Amino acid sequence: MYGMVNRAIEEMVISAHGAEVWEQIKQKANVDEDVFVSTEGYPDAMTYSLVGAASEVLQTPAPVILEAFGKHWILRTAQEGYGDMMAAGGKTLREFLVNLPDFHSRVSMVLPHLAPPRFYCSLLEEHSVHVHYQSHRAGLAPFVTGLFKGLGERFATAVEIEQIADKTAGADHDEFVVRW
Ligand code: HEM
Repeated sequence: MYGMVNRAIEEMVISAHGAEVWEQIKQKANVDEDVFVSTEGYPDAMTYSLVGAASEVLQTPAPVILEAFGKHWILRTAQEGYGDMMAAGGKTLREFLVNLPDFHSRVSMVLPHLAPPRFYCSLLEEHSVHVHYQSHRAGLAPFVTGLFKGLGERFATAVEIEQIADKTAGADHDEFVVRW
């Protein structure tokens, strides 16, 4: 994954727990990078190790960390680094979710080596939508839940997220109902 992902995890941890805790996490994860370069590629395994080590050091289950990271990604990382792209994604939560399938193709124009997930919507109603999430990566559904919660906050819209299909439990892909 692009270094901006590890960098964003670093920022989230340091702002909540300080630089010393982050050093402990990197050490436990066997990561000895001093800085993550946003636009350089790093092995996915490094990101998973950092999340696993954060889970141990902070004594917090990995899914809880991933969900917090999803919110952080929307409210801080994407907004601060790619505000125009986020603005182009939609003016309401509903519009943003409907446009989500095309979102990473615009991101790919500036990050050409992106290996993005695939999203598509079904059963679109006035106050809910089913969002399907497909990825070649495993275990990131809690991150997606956090992303949707972050989008709810971005649009000052109270959201309820329910995961109704789970790839880790044998489903073809993850499916969420987002209600607002
Ligand atoms: C301008 C804003 C955004 C940027 C720059 C961005 C960029 C990225 C990058 C760099 C990765 C790592 C994958 C790689 O490096 O190959 C990634 C992964 C991911 N992104 Fe985005 N993204 C943005 C917004 C969003 C939004 C709005 C969503 C959904 C609500 C989203 C969902 C995901 C998910 C779920 C992954 C995990 C990878 C996977 O599932 O395979 N992203 N994105």
